[in-house]
Amino acid sequence: MSQPPTDGTNRWDAEAYDDGLSFVYEYGTDVLDLLAPEPGERVLDVGCGTGHLTRAIADAGAEAVGVDASEAMVEAARREHPGLRFVHADARDLAAADDAALAGAFDAVFSNAALHWITEQDRAIASVADVIRPGGRFVAELGGADNVAAIVDATLAALADRGYDGENPWYFPTVGTQATTLERHGFEVRYATLFDRPTELDGGADGLANWLHAFGDGLLAPAPADERDAIVADVEDALRADRFRDGTWVADYRRLRFVAVYTG
Ligand code: BEZ
Repeated sequence: MSQPPTDGTNRWDAEAYDDGLSFVYEYGTDVLDLLAPEPGERVLDVGCGTGHLTRAIADAGAEAVGVDASEAMVEAARREHPGLRFVHADARDLAAADDAALAGAFDAVFSNAALHWITEQDRAIASVADVIRPGGRFVAELGGADNVAAIVDATLAALADRGYDGENPWYFPTVGTQATTLERHGFEVRYATLFDRPTELDGGADGLANWLHAFGDGLLAPAPADERDAIVADVEDALRADRFRDGTWVADYRRLRFVAVYTG
């Protein structure tokens, strides 16, 4: 991902995403292996960002369509991958998107690092059920329970020190919660796993600040813009001993991956 900021709001800078946050889609190649796209099948990439994984799905011979809630991302994806189809759409209401590229059921729906932006997860899963054929597979990776907990906790503490009451803006489920939600909408969960994946942040000493500036709008929201740099500095001070190693910040990512088949 990328991520469709449908309610965990964030402003997206597609160029910065490609330049400094490419690890997001580079890590996505593992979950692409889980999708194993087949030549000729129709695959929808939900939260496609700048379209790198949509491109990889198409390169496997599938008919790939990317959707993202950020117009900036969709425009960048169209520029970077001419010939592929990208649609500006809300993942919570895919069936409502008035675009021929989304007409007809998909054989598979794929999503990398996007679903955790959607706190209305029931709506998102119901929306995927609306566009996938019976027997089709839904393959995704998102942040799982306690993902980036050290960063979230340090930021909430820094906000509290200054009198602001913040909250985690993201949806990081357990396997049980996500499987139950999938089942509620007609999916049979074939595989689900939660694992730690400590993730090095690009940018050396600035890696954590870059990450918070790129993704942290919702987390930092209670603080006025002119105080945010100071709060980010407080977060760095709180986490340096544990999470800054050999000149690189290492975020405490935890990933939840699943494969679910739509039973209709
Ligand atoms: C993630 O990929 O785990 C993530 C990215 C941005 C914000 C929160 C989580």
